[in-house]
Amino acid sequence: MTGGSPRPGATRGFIRMDPPEHTRLRRMVTRDFMVKRVEALRPTLQKLTDELCDAMERVDRSEHPVDLVKALALPLPSLAISLLLGVPYEDHDTFQRLTGALLSREISEEDRGPARTELLAYIDNLVETKKAAPGDDIISRLITEQYAKGELTHEDLVAFAVLLLVAGHETTANMIGLSALTLMLDRETADRLREDPSLVRGAVEELLRFHSIIRNGPRRAALEDVEVGGQLIRKGEGVIVAVPSANRDEDTFPDAGRLDITRPNAQHHVAFGYGIHQCLGQALARAELQVVITTLLRRFPGMRPAVPVEEIPFRTDMVIYGCHALPVTW
Ligand code: HEM
Repeated sequence: MTGGSPRPGATRGFIRMDPPEHTRLRRMVTRDFMVKRVEALRPTLQKLTDELCDAMERVDRSEHPVDLVKALALPLPSLAISLLLGVPYEDHDTFQRLTGALLSREISEEDRGPARTELLAYIDNLVETKKAAPGDDIISRLITEQYAKGELTHEDLVAFAVLLLVAGHETTANMIGLSALTLMLDRETADRLREDPSLVRGAVEELLRFHSIIRNGPRRAALEDVEVGGQLIRKGEGVIVAVPSANRDEDTFPDAGRLDITRPNAQHHVAFGYGIHQCLGQALARAELQVVITTLLRRFPGMRPAVPVEEIPFRTDMVIYGCHALPVTW
């Protein structure tokens, strides 16, 4: 199956390409997201998380509730990917607004177009700046190592950066929000994790399986007739893979609707996709989630939602599920 062709006017990131082009481009950044690289980044992730938690602690009681999405869930992955790519975090209002618009299910194509154009123009400008003065970041390295040798066009470079920026913060941000909410509502599991932080790796896998935040993809087009689960998909037909359904498959995950942080095979989930397009940033996402969950449980043992769950604005309108806001107090 193929990743499918983009809509007219879209700049293709390699998520929408087939081999050999996909393989060639993905290989240029594989090492930046390898487990070893990400482990080296863990102290930085811890420092960023601690600083965001310090800021939350400083919030005056009279200003409670605090929106955990704004205070921590979105800034942490956003800071991390900005740092790796060399995108100035001071511009976060701009790029968070634009990536939010791109990922909305409710925005019309006419409104999405200008958001895409504005984000491309922003990154285009950034790439130009880095061409003149490269720094110590992924975009600069792609410029000096690949673009300079003619292995990467300017357009590919811009599409690369857009893909990493969009994929790198919205996804993890929503997993952080949902994970925090889940643990605030399930005190027993939270206590277990607080008492034994070594359970956090398994807990993150189970939370990824349980929430399956990619609700509108991956998407593929059949290159030939193929039968899946007794259903014939004809050559040329499009398929949207239901990740949440696969992750709740009772044959693989018995009692799948229950969150069990010691589930022995939780890591067999497909929350990061499957095959050649499997998430490039999964080691980073895992590390961010592990650090945030452990830190929140340790530093804010009394944290709780400040409104009834029915009043939390869940992202049923977005491609990536989560909460728009998560008012908390402690
Ligand atoms: C909890 C967080 C995350 C989830 C659930 C997630 C999920 C996914 C999924 C399901 C895919 C496959 C899409 C497809 O097959 O069409 C994917 C691909 C991708 N993800 Fe993630 N992702 C997360 C975090 C990240 C982060 C932090 C980055 C950082 C750079 C990232 C970068 C990418 C890229 C570049 C691809 C495309 C890979 C390719 O086409 O070869 N993701 N992600």
